[in-house]
Amino acid sequence: MSKDDILRLLRASTSGYLSGAELAGKLGVSRTAVWKQIKALERDGFRIEAVPSKGYRLTASPDLIVPGEVTAGLGTRVVGRELVYRPEVVSTNMLAAELAQAGAADGTAVVAETQTGGKGRLGRTWISPAGNLALSVILRPALPTHQAPLVTLMGAVAVASAVRAATGVPAGIKWPNDILVNGRKVCGLLTELSAEPDRVRHIVLGIGINVNMDRLALPSEFRERTTTLSAETGGTVDRIALLRELLRQLDRWYRTLQEDAAAVREAWTGLNVTLGAWVAVSGIGGTVEGTARAIDAEGRLVLVLDSGGTVQVAAGDVTIIKKA
Ligand code: BTN
Repeated sequence: MSKDDILRLLRASTSGYLSGAELAGKLGVSRTAVWKQIKALERDGFRIEAVPSKGYRLTASPDLIVPGEVTAGLGTRVVGRELVYRPEVVSTNMLAAELAQAGAADGTAVVAETQTGGKGRLGRTWISPAGNLALSVILRPALPTHQAPLVTLMGAVAVASAVRAATGVPAGIKWPNDILVNGRKVCGLLTELSAEPDRVRHIVLGIGINVNMDRLALPSEFRERTTTLSAETGGTVDRIALLRELLRQLDRWYRTLQEDAAAVREAWTGLNVTLGAWVAVSGIGGTVEGTARAIDAEGRLVLVLDSGGTVQVAAGDVTIIKKA
């Protein structure tokens, strides 16, 4: 029995109250054990009222991810069946990579309240204060190495779908790794690959979503280009509900990717905000401008140049210059 079990039962109680004896009976432990866990929950910031003839009632919860509430009845087949939770890490991607090396199962999810050294793309840092979502999932897809970039597309489809379903915010995908709301970034994805020449060993799919953080936590140069889900909805977003939806969407789209990759590309196309726009893509070889036309079978962006020719870009930073 853990603190999470008690929280789950208190939240599920229709009257709001559950006596120490009821809790003890449901969990098969002593009333003293229940009382100890209630005290531990109070130390974590939960407020629990104790009324002599009625029992315990949860009156306030801190904005914390409670692993037991994330996984209870989740019903996923692969993603999130193992959940590793840490109040603070350097980077969930780094911890996930270590766990993957040590043999962690396909779909293992690593989640943290805060990161002290969150990693962004292209060696950048990712600011990861309390109130956001920092998640990394270990994936071991049966894919040839050249198709590994499709995992990023799959992750973006899952994030945009989960944000829409859990909050109603109209999230869109900017190729390759960003999720935007009304032109502002709300989430970034960082996919790190461990592969042999012909097959993927494992992939760490890192997802950082700006949920409830104060935008003032960001350096001023990022603020204009960045938004949070709480800013978009005008209220505090339930991060546990969002994370549950995200794990379910990842589970669904990860399966789809391995069975029918074209269906992932189709979903991506329906959710993207890049195609049809005039864009500049800057990468290692410089910057190229053109109309974003399509995503090819390996997840590359197909650009139509002014000259009428086409190029496929595998990686880079996209600036949307003009909508179609
Ligand atoms: C980007 O937009 O540059 C990608 C940002 C990815 C951030 C996430 S937060 C969870 C995971 N752990 C990390 O260290 N990075 C990713």
